[in-house]
Amino acid sequence: ISKDFQQMLDAHDQLTKFYHHILVNTTDAEHALQYLLDRGFTREVIEKFQIGYAPNQWDFAVKYLKKYDASLMEKAGLIIKSEKGDKYFDRFRDRIMFPIYDRNGNPIAFSGRTLGDSTPKYLNSPETPIFNKSSTLYNFHMARPSIRKTQHSVLFEGFADVIAANRAGVENSVGTMGTSLTDEHLAILKRNSRTITICYDSDSAGIEAAYRAGKMLAGANCTVKVAMLPDGLDPDDYLNKYGEEKLQHEIMQASVPFMSFKLIYHRRGKNLQNEGDKLSYIEQVLGEIAQLGNAVEKDLYLRQLSSEFSISLDALKMQEEELAGRQT
Ligand code: UTP
Ligand code: MN
Ligand code: MN
Ligand code: MN
Ligand code: MN
Repeated sequence: ISKDFQQMLDAHDQLTKFYHHILVNTTDAEHALQYLLDRGFTREVIEKFQIGYAPNQWDFAVKYLKKYDASLMEKAGLIIKSEKGDKYFDRFRDRIMFPIYDRNGNPIAFSGRTLGDSTPKYLNSPETPIFNKSSTLYNFHMARPSIRKTQHSVLFEGFADVIAANRAGVENSVGTMGTSLTDEHLAILKRNSRTITICYDSDSAGIEAAYRAGKMLAGANCTVKVAMLPDGLDPDDYLNKYGEEKLQHEIMQASVPFMSFKLIYHRRGKNLQNEGDKLSYIEQVLGEIAQLGNAVEKDLYLRQLSSEFSISLDALKMQEEELAGRQT
């Protein structure tokens, strides 16, 4: 590990502690702390996740990181060079700071949430020598022991959702931070758990993303479940509306096998009384069945389809085999 690398890690570590101190102990950040408390973040999770606040200044981090080489801090994504190239200023200003850790618990990046409506809602560290977004899962460092012990991980989209899950007692929670699941994420999850529960936002973007992530995970022979929250809510919204016990129940008890999710997924927006919709639904479900690796499962879902739509099992099997042949 090179000296530059170590200094980038040290700078993140120190800045994490300082931003956190500012949030918890200073009047400059009263509004930020109040924002979090109003959203239901507890002092306990603010500690556990080392949430902080970046003051509304151009040179707060610049000054704090003075002992490091400025161009190195720029490379680490913490400060930015002015257009003329003669000055540096802070990347993160007036934002709630979520430190992002590597698997060993070193902070390697930040995401800063605006307190208001400005965009982006979350400003992230860029890709740097120490931060690669596509191979980082938020909270993996703290979730790893419970993931390994239970061989089960729960996958969320957002920071607030992972934190909400923790408040609900679901410690084996990690987040993709809004990006789609990558092969690197998949490899980490697969190495540490047999079962993965996807608990994305229940808006249409979240449902589409859950379908894609589920396909990838199932394709890698993981057991996939999906927790489907109602009314377009995300897990953090759900917690604030219904409470910790109900969120835990949705994730741990009410989640459904991936195939059941796919049936619901393909049913969305269709009127199954309508012939065209019905036929396209049956075709989509047969396509899913064709991808199942397990003959018993295939038989189960073919029989369900047969009885639900009063179609002969033979006809369904024939079409399923044709689709399976086309896929291979
Ligand atoms: P969402 O838009 O669902 O936000 O994005 P959220 O997590 O519910 O945020 P809150 O509850 O309003 O605070 C899901 C995730 O996508 C990433 C973040 O990791 C976020 O948690 N994201 C979102 C960004 O990186 N940048 C953005 O501007 C928005
Ligand atoms: Mn503290
Ligand atoms: Mn979302
Ligand atoms: Mn969300
Ligand atoms: Mn949210």
